[in-house]
Amino acid sequence: MNNREIQAAWKYHDGTKHSYWSIRNSPHFLDWANRPQPFKIYPQLEQLPLPRDVPQTGVAALSAISQRELSWRNESVPDLRDLACILYFSAGITKQRVHPGGEIYFRAAACTGALYEIELYVVSIDLPGLDAGVYHFSPADVSLRLLRKGDFRGNLAQATAMELAVAHAPATIICTGTYWRNAWKYQARTYRHFGWDNGTLLANMLAVSAASGLPAEIVLGFVDAEVNCLLDLDTRREVSLCFVPIGRTLESSLPPPKTAPALGLETIPLSQHDVEYPAMLEMHGASSLESVEEVNQWRANPPVLPCSALTGESVQLSRLPEEEQPKDTIEQVILRRGSTRRFDKAASITLAQLSIILDNATRGLPADFLEPLGAQLNDLYLIVHAVEGLKPGAYFFRREPNTLELLKEGAFRAEAHHLGLEQELPADACVDIFFLADLHRILERSGNRGYRAVQLEAGAIGGRIYLAAYAQHLGATGLTFFDDDVVDFFSPHAKNKSAIFLLAIGKPLKFR
Ligand SMILES: Cc1cc2nc3c(=O)[nH]c(=O)nc-3n(C[C@H](O)[C@H](O)[C@H](O)COP(=O)(O)O)c2cc1C
Repeated sequence: MNNREIQAAWKYHDGTKHSYWSIRNSPHFLDWANRPQPFKIYPQLEQLPLPRDVPQTGVAALSAISQRELSWRNESVPDLRDLACILYFSAGITKQRVHPGGEIYFRAAACTGALYEIELYVVSIDLPGLDAGVYHFSPADVSLRLLRKGDFRGNLAQATAMELAVAHAPATIICTGTYWRNAWKYQARTYRHFGWDNGTLLANMLAVSAASGLPAEIVLGFVDAEVNCLLDLDTRREVSLCFVPIGRTLESSLPPPKTAPALGLETIPLSQHDVEYPAMLEMHGASSLESVEEVNQWRANPPVLPCSALTGESVQLSRLPEEEQPKDTIEQVILRRGSTRRFDKAASITLAQLSIILDNATRGLPADFLEPLGAQLNDLYLIVHAVEGLKPGAYFFRREPNTLELLKEGAFRAEAHHLGLEQELPADACVDIFFLADLHRILERSGNRGYRAVQLEAGAIGGRIYLAAYAQHLGATGLTFFDDDVVDFFSPHAKNKSAIFLLAIGKPLKFR
């Protein structure tokens, strides 16, 4: 299937929408006896423990997520401690809770259903403390396991059509998605969750890399089969989603690509049996890039999104000088973060707090699908319930003049309850932030791969919003939603857009 045959993305998107009726008529139930393991385990590979005594960067979370005024190291070569820090604060276990269904190991980044379907791999050259190779990161025991020995940078450079950031990176982290680990609960909608859950993790990864003085960016343009082969993935179960090159070498020579024969390594099955959802395999196949030419075409064609017309009354948001912003470090904030389970309905937040969140979270993601830097695929729409200095109502966030444009005034807690899948969280929050995107334009321009990009971007901005909220001792949670009802609620402004993501912010009634 071809990336340009965009009816595939529409079929998947339309086929996985939630509606009032789809939720009520779903016969799906959670088969606890067949619950998947939360970790990928290679029982025969030797463990290479990562250092745990890593010094904190001391960099304020808000500076790290917005990548403002950070000094990049001259020599941008990470050592093993840098990698340990980046991997741990992106995907490491930060809390453990006993639950009726068993133990849950909560991780550094939010993830739908706490199912943690995103795996991380590292492809590195010889680094201080680490020999060149392809490694799997195991959060369970905070260690790496060597899959292939040697410098495979040439393979990554070839797969990305010589993407410079990858060709010059001493280490590249590759994120993959494991279907069944999340589909056990969410069925075919898991392909959207790949983008969301990979995105929240990327928000942490980019922030910690920046705080460590190491350049990092998201690369989505690569020949899928070559990378899946390098990682020896069983692609009916697990697939590569994106790269994050970390650091920069000045060295100009690249090793030629090496052959990467099948490894046939044993892994522990996730559960007694997997259920396969063909809609996701089709969506992945249709958004896969098959050749270097396709990668070049994808990269040359970033979606250009026009600004929607101004409609009415707008509120100017302020930009607080950095010295007046909260200073908790990125590590403190990641360790403190945890999705709010109940918001205090009587509480409010200030306009300054909301401004800090919107400003820091939307300062341009470094990604190969966003050109120029600062472009954004998702538009942010808000339902404001309790923000001091703002009338309750529905708003559109316009990034460049940094304003909130009032679409309709009113108390919309009941509507938010409905739109957020009839949960209390969006009704009790102070503000709900909906992400909507012009999928027509994005798919026309970037093909089915654009669908991966828009979901991933939403997750990454959502992850930054989580961090910006927790940096101010507020609470937040990702949420799911009734797709078409969200678009209807924000129309006519949002007419022809699609609902992509939702996050609620407020004050927690009590921390877990
Ligand atoms: C994209 C996204 C959607 C989510 N949707 C819901 C939801 O609909 N309802 C809910 O109670 N929690 C939701 N969550 C919160 C997750 O359940 C939570 O992240 C997970 O249990 C891990 O816990 P932690 O975030 O506290 O580390 C969502 C999280 C994300 C990232």
